[in-house]
Amino acid sequence: MLRLDKFLSGANLGSRSQVKGYLKKGLVKVNGKVVREPECKIEEGKDRVSFRDKEIVYKKYVYYMLNKPKGVVSATRDPAQKTVSDLLKDTGYGDLFPVGRLDKDTEGLLIMTNDGEFAHNLLSPKKHVDKVYYVEMAGSLSEEGQKALEEGVDIREEKLSLPAKVERVSDTVIYLTITEGRYHQVKRMLKAVGNEVVYLKRTAMGGLVLDESLPVGSYRELTEEEMRKIKI
Ligand code: URA
Repeated sequence: MLRLDKFLSGANLGSRSQVKGYLKKGLVKVNGKVVREPECKIEEGKDRVSFRDKEIVYKKYVYYMLNKPKGVVSATRDPAQKTVSDLLKDTGYGDLFPVGRLDKDTEGLLIMTNDGEFAHNLLSPKKHVDKVYYVEMAGSLSEEGQKALEEGVDIREEKLSLPAKVERVSDTVIYLTITEGRYHQVKRMLKAVGNEVVYLKRTAMGGLVLDESLPVGSYRELTEEEMRKIKI
């Protein structure tokens, strides 16, 4: 059972407060009768809810693309800092969690969902899901540095980093594709070749590409086509 206002905002009708406005105006019906109480309980799959006489389908799982800004931590809750989940408060789905982490100072593509199995699959080290990063560096990347990144470098763990793909934009800017997600991985890889990351942004993950028209700090639901691309 689910509150009617949550059901409606979860169906992307608007924020919880917008939805309350629709309810007040009598635009929502449950099983054919106008209901104005946001706390009315809905049984998903049984009760029929309509808005302006059009039936609404509630989704159990939702998947959003967030263009993560700097200064926000990749967590659901934090006592002192703003989290990525705080940015998606208005979806009506409660705390959505990030699929993996980006550092506080990293920007770019972060998938936010309430589907634990989906997240688990995407993050499983066995799946080797591609992650693409746009990397600006403090110094020039030498040919040897590039070759080392492509072959695997010592990031002060038991194993070297797995072979990565490097695409040069300029001497100090690259796209780096990695198939792992170890802590501070890109920064540590660049450090291993005597360089330093000055700006980092994730641009793709598992075939899903960051929508560059999405302003930093904004989010939107993944389209069906994007879902087909990312399903693994
Ligand atoms: N690698 C890093 O060093 N930081 C990130 O945020 C992501 C990958």
